[in-house]
Amino acid sequence: MPDPKSSAPLLSVRGLQAWYGESHVLHGIDFDVNPGEVVTLLGRNGAGKTTTMKSIIGVMAKRQGSIRFDGQETIRLPSRQIARLGIGYCPEERGIFASLSVEENLMLPPVVKPGGLPVAEIYTLFPNLKMRLTSQGTKLSGGEQQMLAIGRILRTGANLLLLDEPTEGLAPVIVEQIGHTIARLKERGFTIILVEQNFRFASTVADRHYVIEQGKVIDMIPNAELEANIDKLHAYLGV
Ligand SMILES: Nc1ncnc2c1ncn2[C@@H]1O[C@H](COP(=O)(O)OP(=O)(O)O)[C@@H](O)[C@H]1O
Ligand SMILES: [Mg+2]
Repeated sequence: MPDPKSSAPLLSVRGLQAWYGESHVLHGIDFDVNPGEVVTLLGRNGAGKTTTMKSIIGVMAKRQGSIRFDGQETIRLPSRQIARLGIGYCPEERGIFASLSVEENLMLPPVVKPGGLPVAEIYTLFPNLKMRLTSQGTKLSGGEQQMLAIGRILRTGANLLLLDEPTEGLAPVIVEQIGHTIARLKERGFTIILVEQNFRFASTVADRHYVIEQGKVIDMIPNAELEANIDKLHAYLGV
């Protein structure tokens, strides 16, 4: 018999609404992420992908609905407490501190629970970072900054990683490296939600894709069915 617990979603979002001040931007987002899955949120600019991630980590001041992580309702928890449950966030703007070295940036986020990767393993995943330990944040290339931004949440013990457009603006060879890294993190058992504009890239790493339009999830496409749905997807994304 399969363990019923292991088939329960790690994250379950239902009827999620969110506002910036008076501006209502999420209108009922529904989706699930199973343990060990890589799931993408696809959608046009302004669809609500980043806001969905910000709602999950609890930094949207006004949010409503249900976000269950590992069986626990988090919709009314403060962001500090949500982080401690094991959710790591890598923002679109990466958030590397320019005045700190690579090593200082890496050690900055607090460990929230056991099970994080030892620093040595993070360097194995990102050999470039090891060579640049004492470099200042600003001296890094865009790709190196992105790797540092991902690397530093791996230490914390978070088992759900939210990566907001990690490939944005990066050269194809770097995008490929990030793809390999995501595949290795999946092998290590991390569960990942990836916001992507580039669904060609997304298709190389993800199990399933959710399409967001105007603050709602309007479709879910298993990766194996992506090719068969390519025209539909082009229409959704306007590409
Ligand atoms: N800080 C903000 N204040 C007011 N409106 C915002 C803010 N950030 C985003 N929005 C609006 O919320 C909507 C969803 O944005 P966002 O979640 O960033 O979209 P995506 O990540 O899919 O491009 C857009 O209409 C955007 O203009
Ligand atoms: Mg965004």
